[in-house]
Amino acid sequence: MKIAPGQILRSVTGKTLKILDFIEEGGQGRVFKAKVQETNQDMVVKVFLPSFNRTSIIKRTQLLISLNLPAKCATLKTPIDMILEDFQVAHCSPFVRGKLLDDYLTNPAPDFLSNLILAVALCHSVAVLHEQNIVHGDLQARNVMVGREKGIFAIFMIDFDNFTATGLPLPDCLGHQLYMAPELWDALQKKKNKNPDMYTDRYSLAVLLHEILLLKHPLSGADYNEKAFREAVYTGKWLHDPVYSLFSFEELGGYPPQILNAEVAQLFRKAFSLNPMERPTAKNWEVTLCKMLNQVYLCPACSCPCMIDASKTRCPLCQASYPLLQMVLPGSKTIALDQSRLIGRKDFAREAMSVSEKHAIIKRNGPETIMIPMGRYGTYRKDTSGSWRKLQDNTPVVLQDGDCLKMANQEVKIVRTSAKKNRSPSLKSIKIVEEEAKDEWFPLLTMVEGKEVKKDKSFVKGKTLSPPPEKKEEPKKSVLAKIWGDLFSD
Ligand SMILES: Nc1ncnc2c1ncn2[C@@H]1O[C@H](COP(=O)(O)OP(=O)(O)OP(=O)(O)O)[C@@H](O)[C@H]1O
Ligand SMILES: [Mg+2]
Repeated sequence: MKIAPGQILRSVTGKTLKILDFIEEGGQGRVFKAKVQETNQDMVVKVFLPSFNRTSIIKRTQLLISLNLPAKCATLKTPIDMILEDFQVAHCSPFVRGKLLDDYLTNPAPDFLSNLILAVALCHSVAVLHEQNIVHGDLQARNVMVGREKGIFAIFMIDFDNFTATGLPLPDCLGHQLYMAPELWDALQKKKNKNPDMYTDRYSLAVLLHEILLLKHPLSGADYNEKAFREAVYTGKWLHDPVYSLFSFEELGGYPPQILNAEVAQLFRKAFSLNPMERPTAKNWEVTLCKMLNQVYLCPACSCPCMIDASKTRCPLCQASYPLLQMVLPGSKTIALDQSRLIGRKDFAREAMSVSEKHAIIKRNGPETIMIPMGRYGTYRKDTSGSWRKLQDNTPVVLQDGDCLKMANQEVKIVRTSAKKNRSPSLKSIKIVEEEAKDEWFPLLTMVEGKEVKKDKSFVKGKTLSPPPEKKEEPKKSVLAKIWGDLFSD
């Protein structure tokens, strides 16, 4: 009997599962929601199509079950049980309440920080998976889900059916075209045998991170047909690298890549390399993005986020100069805190003898003004209750507009100098590009050496397709040609 809603089935671990709703029919099988009767746990049951090799599926699923990955990392929703019913084989994974990342990205959290947290969690999940020597093999926005737990967004990885691990039958699919590394594209074109591996996973992860952080595919702007897309993949370059400034972000939507800091930009530069060994690991990404969690600055003029680095002096979106602070001393003398400098006794009036000669160092770090207190008789900051709190010597603190400080016995105030707005800022210009998918985008499924490639028009639509370049400005074209070299010339 075909597995269908309403049925009660027994799993290989002896659990009773009631099949509830039908969710979707995928390339490999039918997916249902189910409930474990003994524990009330919601599950997803994927019943494989009879055309798939039963022995291979059982072997592969048994390995995933034995690893018990959801217990090692709660975001990995791998199968934890299996159903063998008549001639059917199905695996059971914990159910995720949420939406596909692909859908989430069409209307993402309005704050960049939520997406940065999601990105860190995704990197962590992939890092745990890779530590177990498991390659996901199909990392893409329809195999990642975003849930909301107690108001906080959380990320989950699903659909491990394309995983590879040593000693196991190989998977049947190369992955999704929009996330496929150049070497997989190459295998596809030359009909060579090649399987997803750690390095192709790293490529796909970087594509996902680009979508989560900048709200656009890394090849948006070069994706008006399959040829252009493929050639862009073969450049091994990060096309949105601010160094090239090939595209205007207004054309493509999402955040300008300039919001990233130098370290993250460097990871993207390496992530799409033709040399798989250059691509950052999931752990590299996790460590770097984690550091960024307290390094996000919001432009006071337009609220555009940016990752702080020393080179940033104006907002990448509205171009307004980041505000500068000044220190107002007793007697209304002001000191501009626009560059590194020392604050000491000679800045104050004569009677300020308790202020040390070198009382504090001021440093600028992009949009931030930092103070390192070091005076003998201490530096204090007034807290919200009006009490003075001593600041730790030699420990940097970020100064804010409105701070009341005491250097020894001298009270000073930190205030903003008036910043000029260069053009009217509008976060509305940050949008996901909604372009019609072009019909000539390749047929939905291709078989190469028995391997499928996932092609999903609904996904392409509204996600990465940008209009064909009509009349591009000359300088842009020549830069493109230079980067893409011969590949672009035919
Ligand atoms: N653990 C889960 N929790 C909630 N929903 C899930 C879960 N796993 C899968 N789904 C839902 O079922 C859909 C299909 O599942 P899955 O991604 O495993 O198969 P597929 O990609 O459609 O098929 P295939 O990989 O065989 O082409 C997902 O897009 C998602 O909506
Ligand atoms: Mg899937």
